[in-house]
Amino acid sequence: AKGVGILAMDIYFPPTCVQQDALEDHDGVSKGKYTIGLGQDCMAFCLEVEDVISMSLTVVTSLLEKYGIDPKQIGRLEVGSETVIDKSKSIKTWLMEIFEECGNTDIEGVDSTNACYGGTAALFNCINWVESSSWDGRYGLVVCTDSAVYAEGPARPTGGAAAIAMLVGPNAPIALEGKFRATHMSHVYDFYKPNLASEYPIVDGKLSQTCYLMALDTCYNRFCSKFDKTEGKPFTITDADYFVFHSPYNKLVQKSFARLYYNDFLRNSSTFENDVREKLEPFSTLTVDESYQSRDLEKASQQVAKRLYDAKVQPSILLPKQVGNMYTASIYAAFASVIHNKHSTLGGQRAVMFSYGSGLASSIFSFKFQDGQHPFTLSNIASVLNISTKLESRHVISPEKFIETLKLMEHRYGAKGFVTSKDTSLLTPGTFYLTEVDNMYRRFYAKK
Ligand code: ACO
Repeated sequence: AKGVGILAMDIYFPPTCVQQDALEDHDGVSKGKYTIGLGQDCMAFCLEVEDVISMSLTVVTSLLEKYGIDPKQIGRLEVGSETVIDKSKSIKTWLMEIFEECGNTDIEGVDSTNACYGGTAALFNCINWVESSSWDGRYGLVVCTDSAVYAEGPARPTGGAAAIAMLVGPNAPIALEGKFRATHMSHVYDFYKPNLASEYPIVDGKLSQTCYLMALDTCYNRFCSKFDKTEGKPFTITDADYFVFHSPYNKLVQKSFARLYYNDFLRNSSTFENDVREKLEPFSTLTVDESYQSRDLEKASQQVAKRLYDAKVQPSILLPKQVGNMYTASIYAAFASVIHNKHSTLGGQRAVMFSYGSGLASSIFSFKFQDGQHPFTLSNIASVLNISTKLESRHVISPEKFIETLKLMEHRYGAKGFVTSKDTSLLTPGTFYLTEVDNMYRRFYAKK
């Protein structure tokens, strides 16, 4: 199979959100800490009737329906998630309900977990399958689904929630350029979930930021050298039209792009204009460790990279700023924002993706766009994603109600024998919701 990649996409995020400026007031932190300091506008969260399973049921059903895909045509289904509902039973098995109904139980794949990276692992698995000798001609389907919630404290405003579904096959309008993909994996304790009785992670915020940037540098250098080898010329950021990052919060994305710019500068400073050279030269002798600590470098590189950031990164930040960190779905929500903003001009262009999951697992890879054939065209993907309408029809919830919901969910995490409120008044028709967890911990869902 040739040109294997993403044929179709859909996204679901809860219609309920809390505004970051209201959260600043409520938490009594300095004005601008979450909105400017983290760069976040709004944060989606699940009410007690929604969870990662209901969101993935909703998005898979919607994708199949909107692109007219017969469920029998799916041959592999992979879920990426770090939201643990069951330590054995994969989220994929709940999704089998959709396919069993149509008589299709011949579907490979289970869940992949490593913090925010599981979705990328799932995507690589599906693409590899389509490219392999065991491919039977049917589609792969990737689902990224997470609800990111943090304990009270500085990490809480970096939550979010969403589910994304991506159909994988040959001759895709979004084809993976497999030759260049580069990976860095390592053992660190930056963010992890050792407490199985709690949904909240243990997080070393500062360490996680540095690990993220170090992983970015390592992947980028590997990606560049693979590109050099196959294309016979050095890769620089001018070789890609868009850069899409896993986005825990927008400020880190701003720093990340500046970091790529600095990397390009270190590799070949002579090609940069004089004023850029003047600004970055003083930092060219820093050791790598020093470079992660230098506030002046951070400022200077963000300043010189600003024009390129606006052109190559800005189109991807809409959903991550509005919805928050969606863990596995975060990078693909950023990617969906590019399609939403730029679908009519993407043909022939390239997007470079950086996927990061704490612990840690990370990869850089690239997609090449082509207009595609109906229903798998970039413009149809943009219209199915329907991002503006989904954002505009959300309900803003007060910080008090947000915190009350998190308290209830803490109580319900791992619990059995309860029914939910079944209040679906804020959900749109077609949304799945949790109705009950019985005395055997079995979960029941219904569709509005
Ligand atoms: N106005 C403008 N900016 C402000 C204000 C203000 N009133 N107050 C603070 N800031 C800025 C700070 O200067 C800082 O900016 P900088 O990053 O450029 O230095 C920024 O806001 C953050 O403030 P800090 O005090 O440095 O950090 P805080 O204690 O708020 O924690 C953190 C931030 C570490 C990101 C925390 O939210 C967290 O732990 N989140 C979860 C972990 C995470 O997302 N890690 C990223 C990779 S791992 C993953 O994806 C899960």
